[in-house]
Amino acid sequence: MITTDYLVIGSGIAGLTFAAKIASKFEDRTVSVVTKATADESNTKYAQGGVAVVLDFKEDSFKKHSNDTLIAGDGLCNEEVVKMVVEEGPRRFKELQSWGASFDKDALGTLNLGKEGGHSENRIAHHKDITGYEIETTLLNHIQGLSNVTIYKHHFAIDLITEHHLKIDDYNSIICYGAYIMNQNTGIIETIKARATLLATGGIGRVYGHTTNPDIATGDGIAMAYRAKAYIADMEFIQFHPTVFYDKMVGQSFLISEAVRGAGAYLRNKKGRRFMLDYDARGELASRDIVARGIDNELKNSGELCVYLDCTHLAIETVKEQFPNIYKECLARNIDIEIDYIPVVPASHYLCGGIDVDKNGRTSIKNLFACGECSRTGLHGANRLASNSLLEALVYANTIFRYISTHPTALPSMNIPDWDDRGISHSNAVFISKKTQELQNLMRDYAGIVRSNNRLDEAFKQLQLLYEEIETYYKNSKLNTELCELRNMINVAHLIINQSIERKENRGGFFSMDYIEKSEHLQNDLF
Ligand code: FAD
Ligand code: SIN
Repeated sequence: MITTDYLVIGSGIAGLTFAAKIASKFEDRTVSVVTKATADESNTKYAQGGVAVVLDFKEDSFKKHSNDTLIAGDGLCNEEVVKMVVEEGPRRFKELQSWGASFDKDALGTLNLGKEGGHSENRIAHHKDITGYEIETTLLNHIQGLSNVTIYKHHFAIDLITEHHLKIDDYNSIICYGAYIMNQNTGIIETIKARATLLATGGIGRVYGHTTNPDIATGDGIAMAYRAKAYIADMEFIQFHPTVFYDKMVGQSFLISEAVRGAGAYLRNKKGRRFMLDYDARGELASRDIVARGIDNELKNSGELCVYLDCTHLAIETVKEQFPNIYKECLARNIDIEIDYIPVVPASHYLCGGIDVDKNGRTSIKNLFACGECSRTGLHGANRLASNSLLEALVYANTIFRYISTHPTALPSMNIPDWDDRGISHSNAVFISKKTQELQNLMRDYAGIVRSNNRLDEAFKQLQLLYEEIETYYKNSKLNTELCELRNMINVAHLIINQSIERKENRGGFFSMDYIEKSEHLQNDLF
């Protein structure tokens, strides 16, 4: 049994920012960050475009950034949350700079702000096209200087500890006491108890197989919170990024940042025609859902496997300067973007919904907080505005830090039973891998960019069978990472399908062939 003051699950921008702040404030308290891969592996590390934040008050304003966020969110954003995040953004961004993160500047030392789809002004602060890498390494370096933070690498959070594990049947509200954590090198499952637990476990991209997300993005935090009976909302709003390098179509694929379209690149079909203007007057810079659906439609009508991003008319020296990593990664795939079109397709990218939290980052479970992509704050509504997620994580990590600092809770005093895995057998890696593919095919075919009631109903039935099979298998098997991830992805898929079935309209990133338009009544309170 390990006892710590603050347990942080996840080492991306959300987890590390919170850990850094709470550890600096309470030097006599311990902060344990558990993370299931290397310390830096996260969606954060791969972020390209940058952080959306109002810094140039001559051209831009909080009002403009808020309006753009509200338009993208298509009626489902929480306006108070939007205002809070947008207005707090500059302070949090400057704090990140003060910890050492560097962002591109012009010759006069002014920040070079980029533009992405849905933004009315240039407001994306970036570090070349590897902004996430810069942020992640800065945060890890900063944390290293804090002696009261321990990072447990290759440690996998299996379940949150609540009354259920303590065999208490009679309780008023559910309380989180910590989590069961598996050391992935030894297979030993530890009990970690804490006064407050933060879920910062990131996204769910792998549920769809083909994704911009790395392998860690299996929705573990959302599944754990759901099993512990926390409220989960807006799971139907999955963002598919329109321009992902077309190659293997399975696992993590390389993203071609929206900032490349922001810099003037065109989308063309196989015949070379610029087709996005057929779908939206903003062309390539329409919001992400519109561009992804436009591409999906072109592919379905033509039977082609990909469309193309054309940078050949852009000044190549500027492109190389702004997007050195994209240039290099395309070359490694035999595409010279000065002369070749880049083959692209949409892929799952971001989850707008997640664990429902209030303005202090509190979930519906006491002493359990959620931050970053696994949370649903109300900022994104039905569709996230590009580059608003790094911003959201920075702001909410601070909000949660402030709340916890001013609302002390005691360390749990009771004995918590150890994880019991006696009498069970080893699991079969081939079986788990086959079942994972089955799940990913199901989600891609039945719950992708364009959905329908029939296909969602079919997905529900098939998923139920898979769920029952894997639950039985899980109860009789020695746990390993792959099995836990599969179980979590099935829970997440269940939430996506159920909440998609409940949405009886087309809104934001959710599109079903059965509805022509939006409902007049906002369906924003599904529980
Ligand atoms: P993550 O950074 O994903 O971190 C999650 C952490 O949780 C990881 O350390 C992971 O290992 C750990 N974890 C997960 N499950 C467990 C478990 N069971 N036990 C222990 N640890 C666990 N957003 C922008 O705003 N601007 C951009 O330019 C941008 N570009 C992007 C480009 C790409 C390719 C991708 C994939 C995303 C991009 N996004 C961008 C989205 C943004 O990067 C993410 O939403 C954000 O980084 C999420 O941060 P996070 O801290 O919530 O989660
Ligand atoms: C991108 O660079 O296109 C990704 C930006 C984002 O997801 O916010």
